[in-house]
Amino acid sequence: MSEKIPVAQRLSAVKPSATVAVAQRARELKEQGIDVLSFSVGEPDFDTPAHIREGAKKAIDSGATRYTAVGGTVELREAICDASAKRRPGITYKPSEVVVSVGAKHTLFNLALGLYDEGDEILIPAPYWVSYPEQVRLAGANPIIVETTEESGFRMTPEALRAAITPKTKALILCSPSNPTGAAYTAEQLRALADVAAEHSFWIIVDEIYGQLVYSGFDQKSIVEVAPELKDRIIIVDGVSKTFAMTGWRIGWMLAPEYVSKACQKIQSQSTTNPSSVAQLAAVAALRGPWEPMEEMRQAFEARRSIIVEGLNAIDGISCGMPEGAFYAFANVKALIGKQGGGKTLETDVDVAGYLLEEARCAMVPGTAFGAPGFLRVSYAASNEMIREGLSRIGEAVAKLA
Ligand SMILES: Cc1ncc(COP(=O)(O)O)c(C=O)c1O
Repeated sequence: MSEKIPVAQRLSAVKPSATVAVAQRARELKEQGIDVLSFSVGEPDFDTPAHIREGAKKAIDSGATRYTAVGGTVELREAICDASAKRRPGITYKPSEVVVSVGAKHTLFNLALGLYDEGDEILIPAPYWVSYPEQVRLAGANPIIVETTEESGFRMTPEALRAAITPKTKALILCSPSNPTGAAYTAEQLRALADVAAEHSFWIIVDEIYGQLVYSGFDQKSIVEVAPELKDRIIIVDGVSKTFAMTGWRIGWMLAPEYVSKACQKIQSQSTTNPSSVAQLAAVAALRGPWEPMEEMRQAFEARRSIIVEGLNAIDGISCGMPEGAFYAFANVKALIGKQGGGKTLETDVDVAGYLLEEARCAMVPGTAFGAPGFLRVSYAASNEMIREGLSRIGEAVAKLA
C-alpha cells in the first residue's frame, strides 16, 4: 500500500534542464547571503521596453482577457507575418501558417509531438540547446547528435550532415545564432547545407530566436531566404523572448506549411489552448515598433561581447572565439582540466564550473550540458561592471589552480 506508484516510463531517458539547475544552485547560494555573479542565464537583463508594457496595460483595460484563437489572434499573426517579411525579404507567410505558443520552447515541443514518430531520427548539431534532445526523447524519437569542431566555429559542415542522414532521418534542428556558442551560419554555409538536405526528404527546423541579436554587421540570413525552393520543408521557430527582453511573457511561434500549423494547433488545443491574451497584445506592440529600444539593447550586447571575449582570452588557460550573435561566449577550459583546485582535481568542465562557482562565486554552465565537454557557456546578459568584476574573480581563481 505504501509503495510509490511509478511515474511514466518515458521520463527515464529525459534529463532535467541543466541550465536551470545551475541557475538554481546560484540562487541557493545567493539566498545564503553569498554574493554570486550569475553568467548562467539565458535571458536579457533589460526590462521589457515601455511601449510594450503599455501595450499590455491597454490590453487589460480594453477587455482582452478572454480565450483567443488557439494559434493566436489574427492581429498578432498578421504582425508576425509583416515582421517576418521585413526580416526575410522575398519570403512571405500567411497568418494561417503561423502558430503562436507559450514561448518558442513550447513551439518546439508542439513540433516534436506533431512531427516525430517513435524511432524517427532527429539530427541535432552539438553544441546544442539543452531542450532539443530531451524534447525529441519525450516524443519517443531518437536524437542523433552531429559533432562540430571549435575550428569550424562550431558550425556543422555539409559533410557531417551528409554522413548523419539515414532513411530514418525525419528532421534537422538548426539554431543560428546558436545557444550556447553564439555561432551563426553565413548564407553560403546555409546554402551548402540546403544542397545536402535537398537530396533527401526531412524537415529543416530552424530556431531563429537569436536572429536579431547579431554583431559587427554580420549578415544574418534565414535558410528559407537562401533556399526558397525548400520552403515547404522549412519550419522557422521564433519569438519575442530574447529580441524584446520578454522572456517572462511567454510568446513564441512557428512559421510553417499550413498542414503543419493545423497539426500543431490540434495539439495545442488539447494542452494550453491559446497563449495569454494580454501577452499576445504585448507582442503585437513589440513587433509593430518602435525599434529603437531593441537596437539600444543589441548595441549594449555587442559592447559586452568584446569585453567578455577579450577578458576571457586574457586569462591563462582559457580561450574563446568571437561569436557572431546571441549573448553567450563559449570558452574553452580544457587547459584547466587536470589541475588542482578547492582540494581536488578538476576532472571535467563540470568540475571547473563547480570550482569557479565556489571559489570565484561566478555561475557558468558547463559545456557538457550542451554536448560539448571542455567548455563553459558564459552569458553576457549582464552589466559591464558585473562582467568586469566576474572576469577579475575568474582570473584570480584560475591563477590559484596548481
Ligand atoms: C535556442 C533557444 N531556442 C528557444 C528558446 C526558448 O525561448 P522561449 O521559450 O523563451 O521563447 C531558448 C531559450 O533559452 C533558446 O535559447
